[in-house]
Amino acid sequence: HCVRLKFADTIKEIQVPEGVSVLDAAAAAGTRMVHQCGIGTCGTCVGRVSTGAVSMPEGRVYPLRRDEIAAGMRLLCQAHAHGDAEVELDYPAAMLDDNPVVLTAVKLTGLNWLADTVAELKVAVPKSVSFSFRAGQYVRLRVPGTDEWRSYSMASGERSKRRLAFTIRVLPQGAMSEYLRERAAVGDEIAMEGPLGSFGLSGQSGPILLLAGGTGLAPMLSILESLQTVRDRAPIRLVFGCARGRDLFHLDELEGRRSFMPNLSVRVTVDEPLERTDLLCGNPVDTLTADDITPGTSAYLCGPPAMLDAAHARLQELGLPRERIHSEQFLPS
Ligand code: FES
Repeated sequence: HCVRLKFADTIKEIQVPEGVSVLDAAAAAGTRMVHQCGIGTCGTCVGRVSTGAVSMPEGRVYPLRRDEIAAGMRLLCQAHAHGDAEVELDYPAAMLDDNPVVLTAVKLTGLNWLADTVAELKVAVPKSVSFSFRAGQYVRLRVPGTDEWRSYSMASGERSKRRLAFTIRVLPQGAMSEYLRERAAVGDEIAMEGPLGSFGLSGQSGPILLLAGGTGLAPMLSILESLQTVRDRAPIRLVFGCARGRDLFHLDELEGRRSFMPNLSVRVTVDEPLERTDLLCGNPVDTLTADDITPGTSAYLCGPPAMLDAAHARLQELGLPRERIHSEQFLPS
């Protein structure tokens, strides 16, 4: 069947054979689309069917409300066409014109402890390597002296292509944690592969809500740097939460950004009770209210899976359409 994919900036036509999902057929035709899980649970691959019959297998629970399905919304990783159809996507195809993935060795140029449990790792990409990324993407780093790879989002802005920064949660166990605590030294070479991932600004205009749990703040810092240069002065709300007060980091950095981004507001939450009055007690998701979802808002979420599930549910309960929620979950390390 011929399916017309209407992106925000262009239209692409693909052939979708019986029994093949729209997402897979698009990939086979070289057309990239936003997606994450590929199994119908994350909801990122949503599109709206404007004409034709496109359905998802029945008898399963999907992260779409009934009224959204009635309005033609489908998860394209699960959706099959039963004839010619047209599907609208709420983002430009150009957004997925990825920077090429490179495999290279970067040099460790700095290691700072931002909190007891959070390290900032700075690396330099060799001049001979052409590397660029979109704010929100991540790379894989090989733990020096091992064959183990870990994924980290860039916390630095997309314009600083050679000097990358990562904020890394340091755990009692774990290969990268052990390396950072015991062996890391300026000048170390670290194998790096990337950029990877499709998380990042969707191109949707309007207010922006950024919700970060722990080191999920990293891609938000990179995204904020991109937003600094955007003329659109729509409000940007950042909600950043950590489990314990001692896990908090970069509060000065956020304060500094607020001073030159008048449209940015920052809310910091901590799960445990605290004496400080400038922080909210509780989970960042619990602090979300209808005031955070002004008309036209797009939300970007990064954090552990439980926080993302709760945030998705809460934002949709507050009336934010599914296609306006973009999320990146921590990959297990
Ligand atoms: Fe996750 Fe389709 S890619 S629901």
